[in-house]
Amino acid sequence: MQSYKNNHVCDITGATMRAVDYTKHAKAGPLQALAFRSAACYEPALEGLVRAFVSKGFIDEREKAGQGIGALVRSAIARLDIEEASKRKWSYTKAHSIEVARFGYTMAVEAASEGMTDAICNDPKLAFAGGLIHDVGKTFIPTAILVKELGVDFGWFTAFRDAPLTSAERRIMREEHVAIGTKYVRLFGGGPHIRTMLDMVGLHHVMFNGENSGVPSYPSLIRGMDLPLHARIAKVADFVSAVMPRHYRTNGYISSQDSALAYAIVAAGTELDPVSVRCFITGHYEASPKQAAAIIERLAHPRGQEGVSDIHGARVYAKDVVRTDPEFLGIIQRQDLDKARQRDNEMDGFARDFGLPPGAVRSN
Ligand SMILES: [Fe+2]
Ligand SMILES: [Fe+2]
Repeated sequence: MQSYKNNHVCDITGATMRAVDYTKHAKAGPLQALAFRSAACYEPALEGLVRAFVSKGFIDEREKAGQGIGALVRSAIARLDIEEASKRKWSYTKAHSIEVARFGYTMAVEAASEGMTDAICNDPKLAFAGGLIHDVGKTFIPTAILVKELGVDFGWFTAFRDAPLTSAERRIMREEHVAIGTKYVRLFGGGPHIRTMLDMVGLHHVMFNGENSGVPSYPSLIRGMDLPLHARIAKVADFVSAVMPRHYRTNGYISSQDSALAYAIVAAGTELDPVSVRCFITGHYEASPKQAAAIIERLAHPRGQEGVSDIHGARVYAKDVVRTDPEFLGIIQRQDLDKARQRDNEMDGFARDFGLPPGAVRSN
């Protein structure tokens, strides 16, 4: 792990200002404020803070961890519930995880119906499980950092989001949650299913083309079709959910699932796997794989990597070009509601299989 010691200089004035700013805006409790102040006063302390937080949590988890996917999912949902119910009311992680699970399952079913081979094509329930747990590492991120990224949810609007993260905080928020998440999955044993879960957690932010894009995705030496299908699908599911505004993300300017899909089409071939985007389209709309592939090929951003790196440019393109495209508009008007109803029932069945209460994984 990279050390912060050489990269960050203690900046007491700036740190104090940030601490005052944080406690004023975020209505933090005294312990959170104290944690933030100690972290802000000397950024290398952030790493120690995270480690202490994680190791305590992991010890607790280890005591109750069983083996296998069911134990993993139940434990992850319990963590997300605690986060949602008490510690961090502004967190959107559970709602987002359920959405990623639903999208992932839908894409896996479509991929299977097209004859693709992967663990999640053999058993699409695995894609569902992978979505539920993909961001479990975020439940170990200190509140003080999380709130700066997500803002505070007052129900009908979100305030104070997009507070500037320091470089150490950004690294912890964007990268550590993946590293922590993979360690978490390892608590639940080995076996092929757990390895699939490890991929979905560990690779859900990897750029499809492996490049360093400047957006919050990771460069990677494993790229393109060398990435397993379940990892490519996790990435697309995460992307589409993350650009929707109800989760109060800093990039939440997209107004609906349709617009989020437009943005995903823009990013196909660069940030996202075009095959998974195609499965997203056929899973949600009455479009054939051929129709979906054609529209992706025609509308993927012409500037490729450059276009996706330029968030503002990609947004303008997605909204003003793709959404005025007659063929795209024709597709999004034909949502496949029968499929959606069928999937709802199937996913309730998964919840039972995982030992969760009925409705625990419904989107709303
Ligand atoms: Fe993530
Ligand atoms: Fe996510």
